[in-house]
Amino acid sequence: MRQKIVAGNWKMNKNWQDAVALASEIVNIFQDEIPASSHVKAILNPPFLYLSAIKKLLPENKNLFLGAQNCYNKASGAFTGEISAEMLASVGVQYTIIGHSERREYFGETSQMLAQKTDILLANNITPIFCCGEALDIREKGTHLEYVAQQLTEGVFHLSETDFQKIVIAYEPIWAIGTGKTATSAQAQEMHAYLRGHIAKKYGENIAQNTSILYGGSCNPQNAKELFSQTDVDGGLIGGASLKSRDFIEIVKSF
Ligand code: PGA
Repeated sequence: MRQKIVAGNWKMNKNWQDAVALASEIVNIFQDEIPASSHVKAILNPPFLYLSAIKKLLPENKNLFLGAQNCYNKASGAFTGEISAEMLASVGVQYTIIGHSERREYFGETSQMLAQKTDILLANNITPIFCCGEALDIREKGTHLEYVAQQLTEGVFHLSETDFQKIVIAYEPIWAIGTGKTATSAQAQEMHAYLRGHIAKKYGENIAQNTSILYGGSCNPQNAKELFSQTDVDGGLIGGASLKSRDFIEIVKSF
């Protein structure tokens, strides 16, 4: 069975006190309300600055994991202000979001840089959550399926079969991010099925069937159940709603 995942992307939100409070609330509610037998993995992706402190709040042996929102595409060296995958691994980070559309758009991240980030994360035993998704004009032109498939080809199709099986994909239509305008479950399903087919052509049906593909973009406790009920939607990458402990947990419970 494919891994079911709900990842909270906190983005550049919360000061130290509020971040610790949010993480503590999530941990407490999670322990009270999510059965130990749950097969859903929940991942908290706070800003870099809080990672090691939040790691200490997470219980052992629970389906609650620590993720970062980015890393640099070089191993180490004179790159003032950047954070390496090795640094992330050394404080216990298990997942890292890469290629978020905000990084691609505001920080000029290219497919080549994302391919390097994927490699460097895997070399440090961190699972990349590779984001892809189209802007509204591309959807309106009707070329969104091929466009997003191409992002996968450029970012992760250089991986070996073994390494490809270690990554998670997140489809996030840019027009749905932070806009309150979510993709319909049919739009999400169409894209996810298309991407799975694209993966199958490169890596075979077996690997494609085992790849988790998350949906992101205005996912909330009201629409998560419907989105996650789609055959090819294996969870969510949650922005705004991950900043409220109750909303985040309700989304985890939507499976
Ligand atoms: P949103 O963000 O849930 O606030 O739309 C999702 C994301 O950018 O990962």
